[in-house]
Formats: sequence, C-alpha cells, structure tokens
Amino acid sequence: MSERIIPRRELEILISKVPENPNPKVKLEQYTIPPEVASRMLYIACYVYRDIVGKRVLDLGCGTGRLAIGAAYLGAAEVVGIDIDREVVKIAKDAANDLEVGESIYWVTGDLYALRGRYDTVIQNPPFGVQRRRADRIFLKRALELGFKVYSLHKSEVHDREVVKSFRGSRDKMVPAKPSRFLETYIRGLGGEIEGVYAMLMRIPRVFHFHRKFRHEFIVNLYVIRRKDASKSLLDSHPTEEIG
Ligand SMILES: C[S@@+](CC[C@H](N)C(=O)[O-])C[C@H]1O[C@@H](n2cnc3c(N)ncnc32)[C@H](O)[C@@H]1O
Repeated sequence: MSERIIPRRELEILISKVPENPNPKVKLEQYTIPPEVASRMLYIACYVYRDIVGKRVLDLGCGTGRLAIGAAYLGAAEVVGIDIDREVVKIAKDAANDLEVGESIYWVTGDLYALRGRYDTVIQNPPFGVQRRRADRIFLKRALELGFKVYSLHKSEVHDREVVKSFRGSRDKMVPAKPSRFLETYIRGLGGEIEGVYAMLMRIPRVFHFHRKFRHEFIVNLYVIRRKDASKSLLDSHPTEEIG
C-alpha cells in the first residue's frame, strides 16, 4: 500500500486543535509551539529525512503534545511524550484522544531521565536555557543518548531586526542556516553530527510578565542531528522497548 502524503496545511490545522498551555510556568520556560512551526518541523523530519513514518518517536518536554500528536498523525509507529509538568501531560493526553491518535502515544509525567530505551527519532522544542542555565544543553545531551536522529529547536543568534522583518513577509519562509559555533562543537562532543539547520520565524503571544511586547518574534533554528553510530531503524532490530 502506498503511503499517503499528508498536506502540510492539513497537519497544521490538526496541530492548531491541540490547546496551548493555559498556565505557563516561567521556571520551566513553558510556551507552546505555534502550529506553523510545529508542522514545518515535522514535515522536514517526515518527508525530507523520512524519520517519522513507521518509526519510534520521542517528544522530549512535550508540553501539551503538539509535536507528539503531529508525529502520530503522520504515521509514526509509536510515540512517547514526556514532560515534567503533570498538568500539561493531562492536556496532551486528552487532546490526543479527541483527535483520535491517542492509541499510538504513551504519555509520561517525569524528568527527562525517567525514560530509558532507544528511539529512532527525538523531536523537541526545549527550554532555551534562559531561566535555567544550560536547560537546552541538558535536553540535547539526553536526546542524543536516547535517539538516533534528533530534531531540536534553538533560538538563533541572529537578532537583527531586518532579518526578522524579511521573514515576516512570507509566513512559510524557511531557509538553510549555519549552526552556531557553540552548538556545533557541543553536538560533536556528544557524538552527534549536524545534517542540516533550518531557520524560521517563531511568533508567540506574550506569555510571561517580562515579555514587553504583545507578540514575541524571533528566529529559531531547527537542528537536524544524527548520532554518528546510528545506522538502522530500531524497529528492525529491537521491537520491544522499556519505559522506566
Ligand atoms: C518550550 S516548552 C515546549 C513545550 C512543547 N514541546 C511545545 O513545543 O509546545 C518546554 C517544555 O519542557 C518541559 N520541561 C522543562 N524541563 C524539563 C525536564 N527536566 N524534564 C521534562 N520536561 C521538562 C516544560 O515543562 C515545557 O513543557
């Protein structure tokens, strides 16, 4: 049977039905990924790199579950979403059931280190590490320990107004970008290899009191990373998995 290519707009509409976090906590740097960013990220993972359909996918720091739910909709064999905040995990679980993808997703409340096992693909929108220093690095490290391929969003070092403006004109703009020197070295040190970096505009409503503007706009880079020792799909070799 041939695989149905799901139009990105269809995916975006589905993701927009997953609620935002109603009670974002500053300490955990909680904000909800906009549907257009989530759908683009998943689309690249699914149709450019073929890392979603039939794969074991992990959403680290899943929040209300937009990435996990999108991955399940695209045809992941199994998805795990984990977040330290019980309240958002409950929202994610209810949304997945409402959207009829609940059967292929396991939801876990806990810290990143509560999980064991191996995953084909990790997708994550980690805290940027502004409130809790190095939170982004902890996510990257854990993602590379658990997954063969990692799709991770990081704030770009480009803060130029003109650049942000140039993205505003086209809602769908996404361009190849250079990795930050720091992340490049850090990822290499973790045994990872960057396969691609894609820049896009992140536009989120004012979430925290220290956000001065009604809307927050900045450039994010999607890092596509492969663990150097990764060779084949886990589903071919290790059909059973343990969740600790
Ligand atoms: C920027 S939010 C992204 C949420 C969701 N993935 C999205 O994109 O809409 C980061 C998430 O990581 C979670 N988080 C932060 N530290 C964590 C930890 N140590 N273990 C598990 N989850 C954590 C937060 O609760 C939050 O929901």
